[in-house]
Amino acid sequence: MPKIKAIHHVAVVVDDMEKSLAFWRDALGIELHELRDVPAEKSQVAFLPIQGAEIELVLPTSADSGIAKYLAKRGPGMHHICLEVDDIAGMLAQLKQKNIRLINEEPRLAADGKQYAFIHPEATGGTLVELYQI
Ligand code: CO
Repeated sequence: MPKIKAIHHVAVVVDDMEKSLAFWRDALGIELHELRDVPAEKSQVAFLPIQGAEIELVLPTSADSGIAKYLAKRGPGMHHICLEVDDIAGMLAQLKQKNIRLINEEPRLAADGKQYAFIHPEATGGTLVELYQI
């Protein structure tokens, strides 16, 4: 049986990176590990690790990206929670068997070699859930 191992990250969509960092980094005091452009997702991402997990602040850098459309429709706020799994293909097969609606039917490969897939929020009670296998 595939197993969920940990919360990997929580992603928050932001419309102003400096304003967001003023809260997450400066007011809460979480260290900013990296601020990186992610061209594949047309976004800039701030990584703020906390004990084995991470807050990711995602700012769209192009109006035609999925994240930009999300921001325009729903405004800034929590976007998804990412769970690390030991066997992503096995987990997707298990979810399909249980008729859980998936956004990605098969694992996708990120630039850094991680495999990931999204579960549709309609199937989770409203939360977009990402799965990661590292
Ligand atoms: Co994510």
